[in-house]
Amino acid sequence: MAVRDIIMDPADKALRRKAESVDRVDKNVLKLLEDMTETLQNAGGNGLAAPQIGVLSRLIIVKKEMKYIKLINPVLVKSAGEQISFEGCLSLPGIYGVIRRPEFAVIGALDTEGKPFEIKAVRHLAAAFVHEIDHLDGILMIDKAVRIISGG
Ligand code: NI
Repeated sequence: MAVRDIIMDPADKALRRKAESVDRVDKNVLKLLEDMTETLQNAGGNGLAAPQIGVLSRLIIVKKEMKYIKLINPVLVKSAGEQISFEGCLSLPGIYGVIRRPEFAVIGALDTEGKPFEIKAVRHLAAAFVHEIDHLDGILMIDKAVRIISGG
């Protein structure tokens, strides 16, 4: 495993392009997910998407309690309700956004064995999944924020 550099320039092309679907869960994909997990752990964040380390593949890691959930080709299957979410992003140090997010979300993805699964999330966790999936489409939280707070 290795800690990768996180891109912290919102204008960087890797953060602004649409990432590609993973068609085979092979050794390289698993290695990448391990590196992403270690990078996220090291940075102390709640989520990380592959484009943030310059890889345009549809891979995300989301921290749930003490576990790191690895999702391959994640999609928002269902969402309901609304919450006002207060978010940071490892690619936008010192910037916080106030964003409308769904209160409840069902995410579908492949696991590390290439098997489909679904995960339900509410509140902070629902917002975290949607935030990370947005990264795969080149969308940053500042694009959706109703208010941006910088500093700190
Ligand atoms: Ni982010």
